[in-house]
Amino acid sequence: MRNTRLLVLLVAIVAIGVAAMGAAPRRPKPITFPKNFLWGAATAAHQVEGGNYNSDWYQWELGGHTKDRAGLADDSYHLYDTDFSLAQQMHHNSHRLSIEWSRIEPSQGVWNWAEIKHYRDVLKAAHDRGLKTMVTLHHFTTPIWVTDQGGWTNAETVTWFAQYTARVVLGLGDLVDYWLTVNEPNVMVLTGYVVGLTPPGKTDLKQGVQVLANLVKAHAKAYNIIHDLIPSARVGFAHHMRVFEGNSWWNPLDALLAVFIDDFWNSQILRSLKTGHLKLSIPFLVDYSEEVPGMKGALDYVGINYYTRDLIKFDLGSPQKFDIMTKVDAPHNDLGWEIYPEGMYKSIMKASSFGWPVYITENGIADAGDTMRRQFLCDHLKQVSYAIDDGADVRGYMHWALIDNWEWILGFAPRFGLVAVNYDTQQRTIRPSAEILSDAAATNSLRLCK
Ligand code: GAL
Repeated sequence: MRNTRLLVLLVAIVAIGVAAMGAAPRRPKPITFPKNFLWGAATAAHQVEGGNYNSDWYQWELGGHTKDRAGLADDSYHLYDTDFSLAQQMHHNSHRLSIEWSRIEPSQGVWNWAEIKHYRDVLKAAHDRGLKTMVTLHHFTTPIWVTDQGGWTNAETVTWFAQYTARVVLGLGDLVDYWLTVNEPNVMVLTGYVVGLTPPGKTDLKQGVQVLANLVKAHAKAYNIIHDLIPSARVGFAHHMRVFEGNSWWNPLDALLAVFIDDFWNSQILRSLKTGHLKLSIPFLVDYSEEVPGMKGALDYVGINYYTRDLIKFDLGSPQKFDIMTKVDAPHNDLGWEIYPEGMYKSIMKASSFGWPVYITENGIADAGDTMRRQFLCDHLKQVSYAIDDGADVRGYMHWALIDNWEWILGFAPRFGLVAVNYDTQQRTIRPSAEILSDAAATNSLRLCK
């Protein structure tokens, strides 16, 4: 009897020990990042510059489809040096920004050299502040002269984008450290051609898939042009990745659909760039296949924009459609997006399984009260470090955004900035939570995160 009790006690002690080992942190403190890691934040031309009146988005605003008009936005067209000083003050060593096609080529074949000179000044100012530059060539806005001719549904746009790219490389190439061709082709297509909330406001999946194909081709063409002109260039695109899961654990159709959507949304563009064969598919919904010359391997790194997770609900009543929901019993940001840090790890592992290095090109939170951003930053950066531990070659993290800015159809209300902006005065104030990223940048570690 006594022996049995002793044995039970021993087993219990061992079990507790094993459980405690299992609960141990994944890596010893402090968490550190690889040498030369890029630390910074991102912006996009139309969201911060102000005075952009020559693109489809401006027309969309005039059409009353957005909560506010971008107008002067953050006036970063003039205040860029102030912005970069703030980044420098926060110990950032890099900055992602976009340049506006409709400024550089205001009408077809007409090149505005003053604007190219302006962007030279901007990029030089960034370098002067110790910031490596990551430049996006297309961040959602398209010149009116392009959209007047069919926009991204027109295959010619791929050529026009390539011509614009060549001019930019010749004009700015010496000042660009990292290139991003297009921002979030999947989001552009979903919002502009499937749900119709952004320009051109279409609800035509078939056309959307053609546009997605054109955007991928535009990326590949731009990739090759940049490399022809600057062989050592580093060229990626900003890929919006999300986690998709079935809405009901007991419904296998939800889970199966989530698998298809996940593959379409997160993996198919990357796979196509790997193989050179552009294949986009969701059973019964999307089926596109084309061999694209020059596309195989047209990527030096994957830029990941990661924000949240979605739950997919299959609709038996109309199987061609499905609902996208958010997990109710979970934390959410001011816009109702679920805060799901593990999704950062999952997205990185998925992207890096294709063999390219990864940079986080966007990740952030709408948090006007600045009550959640601290934890958000720690939790997401930890997930980045876990992915690195598990073999992913992650080389940088750019937070969305450096400053509050105009958030497309949602206008000025969402506050994503490390820096708060008073739009009446253009006064910029660093938010307390920005300290997490500043300290990470200064020490290349997460010593402020518990
Ligand atoms: C991304 C987009 C950014 C920014 C961010 C937060 O999809 O690239 O421009 O708007 O979402 O909403």
